[in-house]
Amino acid sequence: MDVSDCTKPAAEGISPRFLEFVRAMSRTLDEAAGDEPRILENGAPLVAELVSHDDWLPARLALPIPGSYGQYLLYRDPARRFTTVAFVWDGGASTPIHDHTVWGLVGVLRGAEVSERFSYRDGALVSRGTARLGSGEVDRVSPRVGDIHRVRNAFADQPSISIHVYGADLCTVKRHTYCDRTGRIEIITSKPYDNAEPLLVKA
Ligand SMILES: [Fe+2]
Repeated sequence: MDVSDCTKPAAEGISPRFLEFVRAMSRTLDEAAGDEPRILENGAPLVAELVSHDDWLPARLALPIPGSYGQYLLYRDPARRFTTVAFVWDGGASTPIHDHTVWGLVGVLRGAEVSERFSYRDGALVSRGTARLGSGEVDRVSPRVGDIHRVRNAFADQPSISIHVYGADLCTVKRHTYCDRTGRIEIITSKPYDNAEPLLVKA
């Protein structure tokens, strides 16, 4: 699928906080020149700063999908070097065990989430432990630092929101889910975003 199929462009007033984040992240990608450790190291504080203030995400992009999680595209770099997506978790919502195949930074804006990490070897999944990510905290994923996990809202009775920055548009990336009983792998791409237009088109 062509990336242009995922969303249509938009125009609206943008929070200076989010605009500054996108510009700083773009500069980080410029300076890192594809060096993933540097992207994660220098990008993580930018995500931490963004999620330390819960005053910039429009309410229309903070709506959970009942029984599941909404994925709202906030920004897609014109060169497709990164995307920023708001995940809005309904109470009790969780993902399947999955990977990303690209680098990612995940910061919790509201509420909390729980991530269980896995390794996959010889057709079997092995749990590497569970971590709770609270408001303002940032996690990192990539094939290099650990890419397989299952994530759930830490709360059964209230939404949580996390801001994800990925080194690609996951609508266009072939990646995987894993069955925790059989170890069976399925190839997936992310579902289309739940908003018709990104929050920010041009930084
Ligand atoms: Fe994930």
